[in-house]
Amino acid sequence: MFHNMPEPIERRMHALETIDARDRVDGTSRLQRMRQVPPETGKLIAVLAASVPEGNYIEIGTSAGYSTLWLSLACQQLGRTITTYEILQEKARLAAETFRVAGVENIVELVMGDARSFLPQIKNISFCFLDAEKEIYGACYEAVIPNMVSGGLLVADNAINFREALQPMISRSLSDERVDALVVPIGTGVLVCRKI
Ligand SMILES: C[S@@+](CC[C@H](N)C(=O)[O-])C[C@H]1O[C@@H](n2cnc3c(N)ncnc32)[C@H](O)[C@@H]1O
Repeated sequence: MFHNMPEPIERRMHALETIDARDRVDGTSRLQRMRQVPPETGKLIAVLAASVPEGNYIEIGTSAGYSTLWLSLACQQLGRTITTYEILQEKARLAAETFRVAGVENIVELVMGDARSFLPQIKNISFCFLDAEKEIYGACYEAVIPNMVSGGLLVADNAINFREALQPMISRSLSDERVDALVVPIGTGVLVCRKI
């Protein structure tokens, strides 16, 4: 996946990395910032997404589509598709542009709206990347886990830098007998839950 990456994907990733790095230091408001995962987390989620059984792939929190591009590498390799949810119109507009210029519109379906209203209808989930406002992680976890296939992965970002805010969900997952869970200290911390 990481060798001979399609050039349009690599170019758009670099462009978004440049915007994200600039946003973090120039005072751009939180609402407008990309707040995307670091590249090492992108690689981790791509490897994990390439390792799950068949089923539906979803992402909660698209922003400009940077993490989705990493996930699209796994989908491309396996001949699968991913649906990604973004609540903000401006972010969804940027993400649509990302998927167009990166040439992944046939792999990625972008849905604008509150992901929580779609989750109960999505069955047979084999991969879920959760990277939205921290207040909704708990509700998303409870909606996604019952609808996952055995061997599927729910992966949530910010498990270390937002540890306090996410502690209820992290504690819940660590003692939840439906999953095997652990926190991986990469990037800002990634919670990985594998459905039993
Ligand atoms: C941390 S950013 C996502 C970064 C992206 N995953 C990446 O690494 O490139 C969080 C995004 O989640 C979106 N979001 C927040 N709550 C949401 C919800 N209920 N449904 C869908 N998107 C949501 C925000 O608008 C924001 O763009």
